[in-house]
Amino acid sequence: MNKGKFITFEGCEGVGKSCQTRLLKEYLNSTNQEAIFIREPGGNAVSEKIRKLILDPNNNDITDLCEAMLYSAARAQLIGQVIAPALDSGKLVICDRFIDSTIAYQGFARGLGVDKIKTMNELVCGEYMPDLTIFLDLPPSESFKRKGGCDTSDRMELESIDFHNKVYEGYLEASRMYPNRIVRISPRGTKQDTNASIVKNLQSRGLIK
Ligand SMILES: Nc1ncnc2c1ncn2[C@@H]1O[C@H](COP(=O)(O)OP(=O)(O)O)[C@@H](O)[C@H]1O
Ligand SMILES: [Mg+2]
Repeated sequence: MNKGKFITFEGCEGVGKSCQTRLLKEYLNSTNQEAIFIREPGGNAVSEKIRKLILDPNNNDITDLCEAMLYSAARAQLIGQVIAPALDSGKLVICDRFIDSTIAYQGFARGLGVDKIKTMNELVCGEYMPDLTIFLDLPPSESFKRKGGCDTSDRMELESIDFHNKVYEGYLEASRMYPNRIVRISPRGTKQDTNASIVKNLQSRGLIK
């Protein structure tokens, strides 16, 4: 039985997902609340190997469907090995990227279709769907400035600005598909401002203290 709570962070490259998961970790540590932090793709030995395969710029001939299925394979392993056991034992799980990345990148930006990806996500997740998703809502025109350009060792980041604009639109589409689960938070303020709104939001829903 799924007794724990599952929170995911989403948004375009450079919006502050890693930064905000780290600040949330610090907040939970300082208030003695236990949580498991993971990132996608990855979070275990097999999925980290799949991550290398997906992100390697040399693999520029991966088909869109293969890419979507590799992300899903990495996710299936992460759920089976880490997320399901943690949630079953009542733990709080926090993941940097999850199913909405596949909706935005593969379903929308690659054009595979958001409904097809939604079906695939449901197959992969079963009962282990996120309880709440924090979508850090900032378009790529602003988020890439923060990063100071793209990471050339990452095949996805090397995509064109048009592609990343589509990813952003894909996130807006995911927000419309899941209006109760996905919460849009603006990361335009300082890191601390954003952390404070995230903590307040999670507290108001009883997900953290
Ligand atoms: N609120 C903020 N204001 C300004 N810069 C920020 C803010 N939040 C994060 N950054 C910076 O933006 C860059 C990208 O953040 P990061 O957390 O790595 O994004 P992501 O994990 O979403 O790609 C980092 O250099 C980070 O320090
Ligand atoms: Mg990151």
